[in-house]
Amino acid sequence: MLSSKHMLGLRNTSTGEIQEILDTAELMKIVITSNNKKTPHLQGRSIMTVFYENSTRTRLSFELACKYMSGTASNMAASSSSVAKGESLIDTARTLDVMGTDIMILRHPMSGAPHIMARNVNAAVINAGDGTNEHPTQALLDMYTMREKLGGIKGLRVAIVGDIRHSRVARSNVYGLTKMGASVVAAGPPTLLPPEMEALGCSLTDRVDDAIRGADVVMGLRIQLERQKKGLFPSMREYHRYFGLTEERMALARDGALVMHPGPVNRGVEISTEVADSKESVINEQVTNGVAVRMALLFMLTRQRTEVDL
Ligand code: CP
Repeated sequence: MLSSKHMLGLRNTSTGEIQEILDTAELMKIVITSNNKKTPHLQGRSIMTVFYENSTRTRLSFELACKYMSGTASNMAASSSSVAKGESLIDTARTLDVMGTDIMILRHPMSGAPHIMARNVNAAVINAGDGTNEHPTQALLDMYTMREKLGGIKGLRVAIVGDIRHSRVARSNVYGLTKMGASVVAAGPPTLLPPEMEALGCSLTDRVDDAIRGADVVMGLRIQLERQKKGLFPSMREYHRYFGLTEERMALARDGALVMHPGPVNRGVEISTEVADSKESVINEQVTNGVAVRMALLFMLTRQRTEVDL
């Protein structure tokens, strides 16, 4: 059981809850890798993906997860909705709520937006990425992938490399991975390394080689140009040269270290094509596991509303 009716972030999610989500996702993975991707767990239930920012993986995997479990999935893209006519987040949320939505999945450019939504609706709310704050389902699928590939999370050394300052993926991973017993080092240009991240339990370095040396997992992050002012690094070419994941740099990691990336990938910037497509890369598996993890969460949050067992 989850202690909250919502999934707003991993900051306040316990080790036991993370464990339970990952264990449930393991069962869901069996479903999505079978020839009959259908369960009855969301029959009669409806979810709404409410996206104020673009998405491919998160939105579609939530919709698929719902459909695989026989639920009704609808999407509201802010750009083509009445948000464009000036409707507020709270009025939008209340409108979707009274349509009978059981779970709302919100992506929003403002940190804290899902928390505001959760206070104003009866539906359960899942944070699908809020500003630079958290992206909990991404970190859960990342942890699931590490556990699946490496047998566990405890004791792993994880290097997160790239635009740490603007990354909700980095924040959720630091919360989750440290709770699960991994050590995390975040690396990137000094201008993209906020000192306050250390207080979350990771170490910081602007020496990417040092971060990667001996790592079990190396996670590249996209430069989030949409969230930053100009001038935080000289050029894309120089960024790749000094901070990108290249074959030469990956040779410093432990033998067989996983290459991860939440996507979308900018090849030749934060990661080379050779590394993104290497045999150590689990970027595609992350996407598959995202469906299983989101099925697990939808199931667990719905079960809390109905007390029906798997
Ligand atoms: N990783 C991730 O959140 O991807 P999308 O933006 O495509 O959802």
